[in-house]
Amino acid sequence: MNTPTLAEKLGTTARTSALLHKVQRLGLANVAALEWLAGDVAKYSGIDVKAGIRGTERRLPEEVELVLFRIAQEALRNVWRHSAATKAEITAEFAERMTRIVISDNGRGFSPPKTLGSLPRDGKLGLAGMQERAQLLGASLIIRSEQGKGSVVTVELPG
Ligand SMILES: Nc1ncnc2c1ncn2[C@@H]1O[C@H](COP(=O)(O)OP(=O)(O)OP(=O)(O)O)[C@@H](O)[C@H]1O
Ligand SMILES: [Mg+2]
Repeated sequence: MNTPTLAEKLGTTARTSALLHKVQRLGLANVAALEWLAGDVAKYSGIDVKAGIRGTERRLPEEVELVLFRIAQEALRNVWRHSAATKAEITAEFAERMTRIVISDNGRGFSPPKTLGSLPRDGKLGLAGMQERAQLLGASLIIRSEQGKGSVVTVELPG
């Protein structure tokens, strides 16, 4: 029996699978990989998406990088679908004992519900799924947003 590829395990479309290969090769926290993701989103959304790194980049276990990448992708999909932003940014931050992926936009903002777990009842699976994936890694998903003031989604991974 063939071992499923990571792309298969994560259940991805052709486009995502190309992105995943990129990330696998370069590492999530590589400027080139983030710029690739930013460029892909910019192309389909028309939003000016910038990518950046803070701190000294380091590799994380492959599966961790891929999960973080998928969360970032979903966050950027939300920016495209809901924010009406003109600008967005994806940043990987390497602190001494913490890795953060921050996705921000200058769009309309929203009031996140107290518990993201209540969203799927309304057919909204994105944020709850991102939180679930983050928790599987021992990371937290933090959302800061206010009507009219843009949104910031942060995945914070200790270690
Ligand atoms: N960057 C953002 N700017 C403005 N609103 C947002 C943003 N991200 C999320 N939202 C709001 O939060 C809601 C929940 O997002 P979520 O990703 O869980 O569901 P969805 O995008 O509506 O549906 P799905 O992800 O299942 O296709 C969205 O419907 C939207 O109202
Ligand atoms: Mg969504």
